[in-house]
Amino acid sequence: MNQIEILSEIKEIVKKRFENDSTGHDYWHMARVVRIAEQIAEQEGADIFQCQLAGWIHDLFDHKLCENPDEEKNKMKHFLLKRGLINEEIKKVMEIVEEISFSKNKKPPTTLEGKVVQDADRLDAIGAIGIARTFAFGGAKGQLIYKPGSENHHLDGLHLQEPEPTSIQHFYDKLLKLKELMNTKNGYQLACERHQFMDDFLKQFYKEWPTNL
Ligand code: ADP
Ligand code: NI
Repeated sequence: MNQIEILSEIKEIVKKRFENDSTGHDYWHMARVVRIAEQIAEQEGADIFQCQLAGWIHDLFDHKLCENPDEEKNKMKHFLLKRGLINEEIKKVMEIVEEISFSKNKKPPTTLEGKVVQDADRLDAIGAIGIARTFAFGGAKGQLIYKPGSENHHLDGLHLQEPEPTSIQHFYDKLLKLKELMNTKNGYQLACERHQFMDDFLKQFYKEWPTNL
């Protein structure tokens, strides 16, 4: 089976699996990550097929999203083996996926492909789409949009004084840090515009939020 056929089968699996997700991990998240990863991979000279495969499957084994990650991983390995990939290729794709998780790994990925897909995943967490996903996730988890408390600290980008698990707090916990964590030059360039957009969004948000509530 050729690469295009394998990717199109995987796309269908991912589509079925994430069709109804409302936590910010819908099918379109994977599709965007693959598209951005292709772009960066081309610029950085990474293996495009490995990046595409990893991009499509990168959230399939997330413990937040599936009950038995090991079982899902085995299913995917078996699927890839049956489609003619060799063990080494499968091992590498699974390693890329393992390495790109933000919460699990504080260290940057060791392979160029891991760096590329992690940048693509992170780019989809920032900018206008990142903002939309954050509030979708917050809503799905029943989390508040924002809890006022230490407004003076917002505008200069410092941490909130008493962090509350709100969607606005998530910008400080994760989103505003991602630009500086980009692995590739290309990823960093793309991150700058999106980061600026989040800064502007937060400024406007606090401007619209009445004082002394
Ligand atoms: P991924 O696995 O795709 O990198 P996550 O599973 O960490 O992303 O999160 C999915 C989406 O939900 C992202 O856009 C992320 O920023 C957002 N998100 C994660 N945790 C929170 C949170 N505590 N509050 C609001 N949004 C969140
Ligand atoms: Ni993801």
